[in-house]
Amino acid sequence: MTDELRDALIEAARDAATRAYAPYSGFHVGAALLLDDDSVVTGANVENASYGLTLCAETAAVAKIANEGWIDRLVAVAIVGGRPGDDGLAGSDAVHPCGRCRQILNEAAERSKTDIAVHCASGDGRTVASYKLSELLPHSFGPKDLGLIAD
Ligand code: THU
Repeated sequence: MTDELRDALIEAARDAATRAYAPYSGFHVGAALLLDDDSVVTGANVENASYGLTLCAETAAVAKIANEGWIDRLVAVAIVGGRPGDDGLAGSDAVHPCGRCRQILNEAAERSKTDIAVHCASGDGRTVASYKLSELLPHSFGPKDLGLIAD
């Protein structure tokens, strides 16, 4: 992936974070999924008064592509998180996906037959840490283990 495409994906995630519903934590997370035709699908976290029911940004985004029939078309994801500041999202530490979201992403990655790129960015977008999903979720369990991935 080019640096330009990575940066555009991070910017899409920052934009998605502006639509987070996070009145309890105040921590806004955006996720931008890159599909195999270079289209981008985004999601943001959705909190709930019953705190444990919160949906993460990555989960919201994966649900969107699954519902469109695109779960097997994932190439990369960008994730940003932080608190709203004067110039959009603020914060200088890269935000990494939680354990549950790594597993949710793995479902789409296996279906896409791709060790997807995961770009983790700070709220201000200036700090980026990039990985392959297999680095963040080694020895994963997924549809392949249930015989659902054809060669
Ligand atoms: N959050 C995400 O959206 N994705 C993650 O991978 C980590 C955490 C959200 C959940 C909650 O709304 C807020 O960040 C604080 O935990």
